[in-house]
Amino acid sequence: MAEALLEVKDLAVNYGHVAAVKGIDLRIERGAITTLVGANGAGKSTSLLAISGLVKKARGQVIFDGVDISRESPHRIVQRGLVQVAEGRATLTTLTVKENLELGAYTRKISKAEREKEIDAIYELFPRLKERETSAGGSLSGGEQQMLAIGRALMAAPRLLVLDEPSMGLAPIIVQNIFSILRDIHGRGMTILMVEQNVKQALKIAHAAYVMESGSIELSGTGRELSQDPRVKEIYLGG
Ligand SMILES: Nc1ncnc2c1ncn2[C@@H]1O[C@H](COP(=O)(O)OP(=O)(O)OP(=O)(O)O)[C@@H](O)[C@H]1O
Ligand SMILES: [Mg+2]
Repeated sequence: MAEALLEVKDLAVNYGHVAAVKGIDLRIERGAITTLVGANGAGKSTSLLAISGLVKKARGQVIFDGVDISRESPHRIVQRGLVQVAEGRATLTTLTVKENLELGAYTRKISKAEREKEIDAIYELFPRLKERETSAGGSLSGGEQQMLAIGRALMAAPRLLVLDEPSMGLAPIIVQNIFSILRDIHGRGMTILMVEQNVKQALKIAHAAYVMESGSIELSGTGRELSQDPRVKEIYLGG
């Protein structure tokens, strides 16, 4: 079997006495969209945070592109190309759209000219951000903020783009827009790991899917397999 881009082995995270993640295994294949779904409090966000080095692991390994990054700093992990999109509302509110995008490249050593070129590429992907270039991040709509958060993450030159509920709080039409942009980004060669509450949509675009319950992976398969699984249908797709 070819080496996966990301391999998570026996990952566990505790918050005090609460076992939030209880030894999970994940394989994120190169070029694939992988989704992690599950009920509230299942441990999805905690798993992503542990992969990005943002919460302490009780045990387990995270192997990115063949390198054990389990003990590396969040900054180093971003530099390696494992980049998590900040939550929509975490976009820096007093900075302009353009300044937010510039900041996305903070871990990289690139010239101003290169950075400008990449920002133009982001504007091609999100024409709306170009229109709002000089607006403060905080004045954007929820959908625009999510676009900015994704754009900012892309400025870090990810090889694996990680998203935690990109559709959260957005109107259905905007959700469609965000999913279609993610498909587009994937079409340009990006590997994506995405936590989603919108299980139906997520399974539709995902090549591989994991269902998490109470800190453990209960089911896994292709997006199609899981969308046809009776347990998934009953619990997440409304029967
Ligand atoms: N900072 C924290 N301190 C203590 N307990 C926490 C903390 N963050 C999460 N938890 C607990 O850890 C468990 C897993 O939470 P987590 O946020 O990872 O779940 P989730 O699957 O992302 O849920 P949701 O769908 O609501 O986002 C839950 O029991 C939650 O209450
Ligand atoms: Mg969460």
